[in-house]
Amino acid sequence: MTTASTTPELDRILAGYDRERPNLIPLLQDVQDELGFLPPEAIATVAEHLNLSVNDVYGVATFYTQFRFVPPGDHCIKVCQGTACHVRASGLIVEEITRKLGIEPGQTTEDRKFSLERVACYGSCALAPVVVIDDKVSGRMTAKKTDQLIKGID
Ligand code: FES
Repeated sequence: MTTASTTPELDRILAGYDRERPNLIPLLQDVQDELGFLPPEAIATVAEHLNLSVNDVYGVATFYTQFRFVPPGDHCIKVCQGTACHVRASGLIVEEITRKLGIEPGQTTEDRKFSLERVACYGSCALAPVVVIDDKVSGRMTAKKTDQLIKGID
């Protein structure tokens, strides 16, 4: 079982939160912002800080697609799953990326080159479906156009 361990960065984040369960999600968000993902040691540290079990913390964290449990790849591919993008078949884009790169949302390729995420509305619904690669927003996407964008990355 992974034990809690801390770092100065983690200590700084924890110091900003009272030891109350409602702080769990914002705390996990801050940890992920700092580390890029939620390693097992950080999960254990957060659990200890809030007097929760590690299983409780995983139970909550795995419910939300925003949380990652593996380090992100060099290039992050985000596919919007908000309503406007969903009805314009953004799910097919995710399927195509999964088929081509062999990763599901929340995963990173073995060579750590790409990671795939599903995100909630990106705020560009007029451009649906939206794909964001390394913070560059591309609108009116298709599986084929997404594949071309990925192939264009070194
Ligand atoms: S639903 Fe995708 S940008 Fe709004």
